[in-house]
Amino acid sequence: MLLDEQAYVDSGIIMGQTGDYVAGSSKYGGIEYMKCGPENLFFPDFSRIPRTDVIFFCSPNNPTGHAASREQLLQLVETAHRNGSLIVYDSAYAAYISDDSPRSIYEIPGAKEVAIEISSFSKSAGFTGVRLGWTVVPHELSYSDGFPVHKDFDRIICTCFNGASSIAQIGGLACLSEEGRKVSNHTRSDDPNMS
Ligand SMILES: Cc1ncc(COP(=O)(O)O)c(C=O)c1O
Repeated sequence: MLLDEQAYVDSGIIMGQTGDYVAGSSKYGGIEYMKCGPENLFFPDFSRIPRTDVIFFCSPNNPTGHAASREQLLQLVETAHRNGSLIVYDSAYAAYISDDSPRSIYEIPGAKEVAIEISSFSKSAGFTGVRLGWTVVPHELSYSDGFPVHKDFDRIICTCFNGASSIAQIGGLACLSEEGRKVSNHTRSDDPNMS
C-alpha cells in the first residue's frame, strides 16, 4: 500500500513482491495505491482501502511536502493495529518540519508494536553522495506468531549488506554532534527553498 508513487513500487517490482503490471492503468497488482492530495488533506481514508500486509508511509512526503499531523498518524497507527499491518515509515525529511507535527512515528503511542522507521542523512546533512541512513526496528514489533521482526532484520543486514563504510559512519556521527547539528540547522534556515 503506497502513499506516493514509484520509489516503493520500483523496489517491490525488482524483488518480485508485486503482482503483474495492469495494462491501461499503469499500476501493479497486489498494491493498494493511496491517493493523497489537497482534497483529502494529503491523508488516505483507510475505511475505503482494503487491508494490506505492509503500509508504506512517507512524512514529510516526497513529492507533496505534506507533514502528517498527530491526528493523522494516530489514525495510521490505529489502522495498522486493527488490520495487523506493518508500517514502514519514511521520515527522511523530518528535519525540515517546522511546526508541531511529529518527527517520528514513535511519537505516537502504540507505534513500536506496528512500525519500522527508515531515515537518511541525505536531506538533513547533504549526504546524498555519501549514502548513510538508518532503520529502527523496535523489539516490541513481532509477526502474528510472536516471532520478533528485528531477528529477521538482523539476519538480512548481516547476510545481504556488509554495512555502511566507516568513513560514512564517522561523518554521520559528526552530523549528530553539537557542532554538526548547529551547522545543519544554520544551513537549512539559510536555504531560500526552505523558507
Ligand atoms: C522520501 C525519501 N526517502 C528516502 C530517500 C532516499 O534517501 P537515501 O539518499 O538515504 O537513499 C529519498 C531520496 O530522495 C526520499 O526522497
